Amino acid sequence: MDLLDGYELLAPTWDDLEPAAEVLAADDLDDAGQVVLDTGYLRGQWERFGFELTTDAWVAVDAAGTVVGHGQVTRDEDDLAASWGVVHPAHRGRGIGSALLGRIEARANELLAGVHGGRFRHVVNAGDEAAAALLQGRGLHLVRHHWIMSIELSPDAVAGPAPAGIAITSLRPQDDLREVHAVIEEAFEDHWCDRSESFEHWVRDRTQGPDHDPALWRLAWEDRRLVGALVASVLGDQGWVTLLGVRREARRRGIGAALLRSAFEAVAARRIRSMVLTVDAADPTGATALYERVGMRVVGRFDLWERALDPSAISRLS
Ligand SMILES: CC(C)(COP(=O)(O)OP(=O)(O)OC[C@H]1O[C@@H](n2cnc3c(N)ncnc32)[C@H](O)[C@@H]1OP(=O)(O)O)[C@@H](O)C(=O)NCCC(=O)NCCS
Repeated sequence: MDLLDGYELLAPTWDDLEPAAEVLAADDLDDAGQVVLDTGYLRGQWERFGFELTTDAWVAVDAAGTVVGHGQVTRDEDDLAASWGVVHPAHRGRGIGSALLGRIEARANELLAGVHGGRFRHVVNAGDEAAAALLQGRGLHLVRHHWIMSIELSPDAVAGPAPAGIAITSLRPQDDLREVHAVIEEAFEDHWCDRSESFEHWVRDRTQGPDHDPALWRLAWEDRRLVGALVASVLGDQGWVTLLGVRREARRRGIGAALLRSAFEAVAARRIRSMVLTVDAADPTGATALYERVGMRVVGRFDLWERALDPSAISRLS
């Protein structure tokens, strides 16, 4: 479908941040009845290292110049371009989503030009049938269901004791980053997207954004050996857990739960009232059960769709 008269796609400026966040909020309200992805989240996305507003994002505006849609794409891993987009519920069915996806795919192809095994991923709300049909029509396949989980934090949240023999600290940026990277690499070998990254890339992606806050990282030590790590930050009004991993031999001792509770305490101390994360609904290490056990609840569901830029790179959801 062609973009209907009166609408156009533009590179956003920072003045578009609030209006684009309002489109996200309208989409969340329509989909799940509550707003999860707020201005702080979008600002964090736009401020990511290497992300260029002029080439990697678009806003759809109507004839009056009102922002009614937003889409973006980033090179999330060496061989993965990941994207998402939303159209305001009142402006659907007019070709905006399809036009956004066209721009996004073209940029993904540029970002991964010449990359062996390259994949293009697009994320949509679960159950959005129109979006699913659009993606299917463009040759993407459903590969994964993910959940957004959230917890309301009490201002006086306390972590409670760590498991015997475990000490929990924040990050010392000069000393601990190599060990944190090693723990995360080991932990995510069990993860479906096994996101192995060189230390240099990992440090750049995790520590060069304005939301990087070493005081919110939680590290679990046993006899001076790092056995678990959690990466957290505050985006706008919400805390986010962006990574959590425990070494295989240290699992099922309560270390994951202790890291989460410690992060809740650290974030609550900043007067932030909720903490959010996204998780693979079929995490083989039982992360979703763990998150429920520490009090988190599912507040949103989304689907990951992929198309191979190299056909051997995709494993479909069966
Ligand atoms: C998910 C992960 C962080 C959990 O770490 P963990 O330290 O094993 O977490 P916990 O020990 O607190 O809880 C795990 C389970 O052990 C159980 N457990 C906790 N203490 C225990 C003990 N002393 N004895 C036996 N079992 C125990 C918990 O009840 C929990 O079971 P449940 O999931 O059925 O509720 C870890 O498995 C991991 O690194 N996975 C790979 C990376 C990953 O998937 N990260 C999350 C992506 S979003």
